[in-house]
Amino acid sequence: MTDMKAQQAIAKPDIMRSTQDDIQLTEAGELKHFLTIEGLKKERLIEILDTAESFAGVNDKAAKKVPLLRGKTVANLFFENSTRTRTTFELAAKRLSADVLNINVNVSAVTKGETLLDTLRNLQAMQCDMFVVRHSSSGAAHFIASHVEPHISVINAGDGQHSHPTQAMLDMFAIRRNKGDFSQLKVVIVGDILHSRVARSQIHALNILGTGNITAVGPKTLLPQQMRELGVHVRHDLDGALVGADVVIGLRLQKERMRSALLSTEDEYYRSFGLTERRMRLAKPDAIVMHPGPTNRGVEIEASVADGPQSIILEQVTGGIAVRMAIMSIAMGNIEKSLAANSAVQS
Ligand code: CP
Repeated sequence: MTDMKAQQAIAKPDIMRSTQDDIQLTEAGELKHFLTIEGLKKERLIEILDTAESFAGVNDKAAKKVPLLRGKTVANLFFENSTRTRTTFELAAKRLSADVLNINVNVSAVTKGETLLDTLRNLQAMQCDMFVVRHSSSGAAHFIASHVEPHISVINAGDGQHSHPTQAMLDMFAIRRNKGDFSQLKVVIVGDILHSRVARSQIHALNILGTGNITAVGPKTLLPQQMRELGVHVRHDLDGALVGADVVIGLRLQKERMRSALLSTEDEYYRSFGLTERRMRLAKPDAIVMHPGPTNRGVEIEASVADGPQSIILEQVTGGIAVRMAIMSIAMGNIEKSLAANSAVQS
């Protein structure tokens, strides 16, 4: 495929069709890239959560470093803005003792017309070992993973409306730490689910981990048909949906992805779908409130809920470092095992 055709292909994604296939697994069925949650076995997700649990201890120590990625170079390639994901990937890589390159795409040669593939070829020539990629096109990380050299691991840090698998895993980490078993939970996800790669990845992860009671809530214009296919209850009345909820996840209105008028006004949206203190009283008393960030207070969540005792929003961020350390170290370790096994077969 030429660069031009390839870039057109990722610019016109079919987000309802998974881009996942065996490309993210080694021949032994272990993770070498992390592109999407969809299709992964439960044991793969548990391995990430358990490994992250061991790294959480490292992050609490005075010397927050382990040597697992010493000598490796991780390139953060963010073609879209980010605060939490980019910085926690950088911290995670540094705590694993890797060297880190943060490529600011806005001041890179991409602005002079260099293609995605040429950018990658140049980073490969600098002997990078891992690409962490955020891109506005669904399928971008998958496309990159299918073009890199065999020793390179690609981690999806969010691709268009498709997938944000490391966010979903840090959310699962936070849920497991607060609630334990997934199977008995009632999880309510409220907001702009149509444009949310986070919600799609969370739903896949919750399904794989055994949560049978997931409800998606929002205006009709922001709830995709796909929800029912994924076994998710769909509702448009937040008050009713919150009754008996254990986990309540708010989402941002992603206006930058809305191509037509899908909302009346923000005030009206807040009245119907804002996570307020009054509404949270409908959920179980020990329900937790989550949000991937960035939050818009007074649009999708009341400030006193975002900062209140049920909120674990900042705990999600902290756990993100350990979860990203886990994913990076597992993927790199599996690539090394796979390359060693192949060279043993050839010799
Ligand atoms: N949750 C999340 O992806 O936030 P950032 O856009 O700040 O990375």
